[in-house]
Amino acid sequence: MKVLSVVGARPQLVKLAPVAEALTAAGARHVIVHTGQHYDADLSDVFFTGLGIPAPDVHLGVGSGSHGVQTGGVLAALDPVLAAERPDWVLVYGDTNSTLAGAVAAVKQHLPVAHLEAGLRSFNRRMPEEHNRVLTDHAADLLLAPTEEAVRHLAAEGLAERTELVGDVMVDVCLRVRDAALAERRVPRLPEGVAADRPYLLATLHRAENTDDPKRLAAIADALAALPLPVALLAHPRLLARAGEHGVELARGAVRVGRPLPYADLVAAVLGSAGVVTDSGGLQKEAYLLGRPCTTLRPETEWPETLEGGWNALVPDPQLLTAAAWAATAARPAPAAPRGAPYGDGRAAGRVARVLTERAAAGRD
Ligand code: UD1
Repeated sequence: MKVLSVVGARPQLVKLAPVAEALTAAGARHVIVHTGQHYDADLSDVFFTGLGIPAPDVHLGVGSGSHGVQTGGVLAALDPVLAAERPDWVLVYGDTNSTLAGAVAAVKQHLPVAHLEAGLRSFNRRMPEEHNRVLTDHAADLLLAPTEEAVRHLAAEGLAERTELVGDVMVDVCLRVRDAALAERRVPRLPEGVAADRPYLLATLHRAENTDDPKRLAAIADALAALPLPVALLAHPRLLARAGEHGVELARGAVRVGRPLPYADLVAAVLGSAGVVTDSGGLQKEAYLLGRPCTTLRPETEWPETLEGGWNALVPDPQLLTAAAWAATAARPAPAAPRGAPYGDGRAAGRVARVLTERAAAGRD
């Protein structure tokens, strides 16, 4: 069986790591195509080296652009690659522009498409990721769902027959990296001015809804600056660019700004923190898996399981919260409520490899 993975953005590389390992273990031929959506070393190269992912076989070098330009660029650049490789499966990951372009390029060439992390929904039609998810799910032949909630969403859209519940491959990689970080007592690399042995909050912010609206971004920056604990803000390049354009200063009050971290350092930084403040889907789940309270700067989440027991709290409108309410939410202690295992047992990637192998064989019969 030949599987061609299309990846391009940081969270996809994290998911690729366990999948690449499982596909190799299953004896599959695995071709990795990097679209180039993320190109800074902080967002791309460090994940290949840090997580032991084989170097991409093909690099499309598409880079940044408007949604149409970026998605169209990947679509056009993939055409000759897919025509030459003719894989048994084109495997696309998550909800980025690279995901949608990979799915569309494949269906246009009548190649079977599998979507990893299928069925997530925010029901927020203004999010580019929501368009990408819905369109990819409806184009794909096989929907690899991470949770029972995702399975229900797919069934509600008439896609039950194409769906397989496999669990979440992020659990595989997160728990493995956590165990290594604990065993080696990894000290997180935090921005200068944040001490790893004193309580701190870990923050990230990159969603267009938060970064591109000057008033909303200013309100978030003010609120973080006034928090009662030091805030280690790991800044995505998009955040730095928009803050610069809007004249919003990030590094003030409680906030110290640093660069995005490689995965092992990120996991160590979450483990060392008193809590997480973020708009990232992956980090909400990592905080949950690692047992740290999370505050999510969004009106909704694709991972509602994290809300149970108060492990995750949504802040729908950061402009409406007083400084006291921000402090009470973001710096709250870890809840006593037990966490279940809604994201699976850490063996999802093996199931992905098995389902792809079985279905590829069935397709050839
Ligand atoms: C993308 C995904 C988002 C995912 C995120 C993870 C889409 C629509 N969004 O958002 O779902 O959560 O990746 O990080 O696909 N930039 C750099 N260097 C890079 C990459 C980007 O400086 O290596 C800057 C550019 O100014 C670029 C901006 O960041 O225009 C946004 O990058 P883009 O890939 O369009 O979206 P992300 O915000 O990273």
